[in-house]
This record gives sequence, C-alpha cells and structure tokens, in this order.
Amino acid sequence: MNIDGKAWRTIWLEEGGRSVGVIDQTLLPHRFETRSLVSLEQVAEAISTMVVRGAPLIGVAGAYGLMLALQQDPADAALAAAFERLNATRPTAVNLRWALERVRHRVASLQEAERADAAKVEAGAIAEEDVAMCEAIGDHGLRLFQELAAARPAQRQNRPLNVLTHCNAGWLATVDWGTALAPIYKAHRCGMAIHVWVDETRPRNQGASLTAFELGREGVPHTVIVDNAGGHLMQHGEVDAVIVGTDRTTRSGDVCNKIGTYLKALAAHDNGVPFYVALPSSTIDWSLDDGVAEIPIEARSAREVTHIQGRRDGDASDAAAGGLASVQLSPDGSAGFNPAFDVTPARLVTALITERGVAAASEAGLKELFEDPRRADH
Ligand code: MRU
Repeated sequence: MNIDGKAWRTIWLEEGGRSVGVIDQTLLPHRFETRSLVSLEQVAEAISTMVVRGAPLIGVAGAYGLMLALQQDPADAALAAAFERLNATRPTAVNLRWALERVRHRVASLQEAERADAAKVEAGAIAEEDVAMCEAIGDHGLRLFQELAAARPAQRQNRPLNVLTHCNAGWLATVDWGTALAPIYKAHRCGMAIHVWVDETRPRNQGASLTAFELGREGVPHTVIVDNAGGHLMQHGEVDAVIVGTDRTTRSGDVCNKIGTYLKALAAHDNGVPFYVALPSSTIDWSLDDGVAEIPIEARSAREVTHIQGRRDGDASDAAAGGLASVQLSPDGSAGFNPAFDVTPARLVTALITERGVAAASEAGLKELFEDPRRADH
C-alpha cells in the first residue's frame, strides 16, 4: 500500500535473505523507520515488542525467523529450539504457529545443507499467499459493502457508507492490503463513498496510530473515536457496519481479536448493525471449538495500561527523538491488568469474510468454503 505515493510492504528480504527488513510499528505514526533483522533473536524480539504485529504479519515474520536460525545452525536441535523460541513470543495469533509448522514441515526431511534455502522459499510463499488472500478478502468484502450501501433506506443513500473498525487489521497487520481494511481500500479505489470510524484501541492505540496512519496515507476519509463511543454512534444510526480482523478463529466461528472487540459486537447486535470479521484461512484453528474456553489470551505488561506513548504536544519538529514521549496515566502504586484479546462468540458475528468468499460464522459455514480444512495448504 502507499506511503506518500510509494508502494510498501511490511516485510521484505535484504542481502539475498541474510537480513529481513521491516517497518518499526512502535514508532508510527510519528516516525517512519525501517529495521534490518539479522538473527532469530532479533526477529523474536521484534514480534514480542510489537515492532511487527498483526496475526498474518507475525506469521510471516516467524517464518523468516526460522530461515535466519537455519542459516546459523541447520541441525534438528537448533530447528526445534528456534521453533519454540518464536512460537512463545505471542500466544494468541494462531498464524504464528501455522507458519512455523509449515516451514518446519518443509525442511524437516531435507539435508541440513538444504534447509535454510528451503525455509526461505517457503517463507516467501507464505508471504505471497498472504498478499493474495488479503486481496481476495478485499474483493469479497467490497461486494458485501456494495450490497449494504444499496440496501440502505432512501434518505441514507446520499451519504458515505459508515464503517467502524477496531484495532489495526490493515496492511500493517499483514504483508499487504490487510484483512478488515482490504474491502475499505477496494471500495475507496473504485470510487465508493466510504467513511471509517476508527476506534483508538486502548491500551496500545493501534487504531489511533496505525489504522489512522494507513487510511490517511491512502486518502480514505476517517475519524478517530475513543473506544467507548461506538455504542453511542450505533444508537444514532451513524454506523452501517462493523468490520474487524481476528487472531484466531475456532471451527465453530468464534473469533478472538483485540481486547474490546467483544463489546463492539454486543453493541452492534443490540442495534441491528452487521458485524463482519475478515480473515485469511491461516487464522482458523480447526482444533478448537469453544473460543472463550480454549483460546489462550495473551496478558501483556501492565505498563501498557498505566502509561501511554505519543508525540509531545507542539514538538513535531524534534527530529532527533521524533518528539516521542511516554507519560504515566495512573497513580503510583495502582495495579494494572492487560489482557490483549477477547473472544466474540459466533452468534454475534453476522458473517466471516475469507479469501474464498463470505461464510456463516459456524462449522458448517466454514466447511462449505474449506472442504478439507486440515490440509497444510489452502
Ligand atoms: O496486538 P496486535 O496489534 O498484534 O493485534 C492485532 C489485531 O488484533 C488484529 O485485529 C488481528 O491481528 C487481525 S489482523 C489482520
């Protein structure tokens, strides 16, 4: 997608694959910097600290992390240790385990000398497939938006389609296009009038920082709102649809996404607003049925709740530091708790938008599109 007219992806190979380039998402939107990751440890650190984040992107980053590890040591023991190290970085997004398993499966039966190159090919394929899946999600979601826009009452036909999103499920969360934002980009590019309500998404503010950054650079009209405003806007007819991503989807259609997603689904249900979840099939965990009971929820540092990062007011020109500062919100001594994700039960999900089309949020719905769900490819 575009930043100041230049097309970017979120991850790329450098020096023939000896190094992996990424955009440092902890500095956006105030500073745009890239980083070169040259070791397993640097990739693991980049995933844990959210230099790279978003379920599909951490899957691809993990796959490249295995490639870097195998360049250093292609033996079985090193492969197993690298797999465990990367897989432990973030527990909720299943794409990470899925991508690591794919690379491990690809290299396990090879001679040690062939493994790093094979991992590079497999990780590259995962990245390319992610782009294709996200673009297809965009096409299917666009058709849904067109139907929604056309079905609105006559008095609402002459205003933009108002879509609310939570967190960042845009191109920064994937390799390109995004999941929930892909249909929005497609709609905007084909001239449809669309406006996005962007939940700020406390505590890390991926909406206010990353989604707003992306939409702004692509020229999509948007407004940042506090997380608590969504229900109010829905009650007043200001939201035509909600669309979010997911880090793990059970076979029954429960979706696990950024903390606060569940509350938006409840408000949407209460107000008759359709609630869509966009996902590549790499996000489906066919081994799980009950998302609330079975999906591991990452608990991050309480400091992300008690403190907040931003640009110092009036300090946009502080080039050296980018004007970035962290400030404390709560009193010394107050405890904080920071569950990073929550589960929205399938009954609150209007439909799942996948690369193969739109499905009911149910096992039957998913199986209609993915007949042989447990196969390694999709
Ligand atoms: O903690 P993050 O920023 O990695 O969380 C990201 C999300 O919750 C996204 O909505 C999810 O990964 C789906 S992205 C395409």
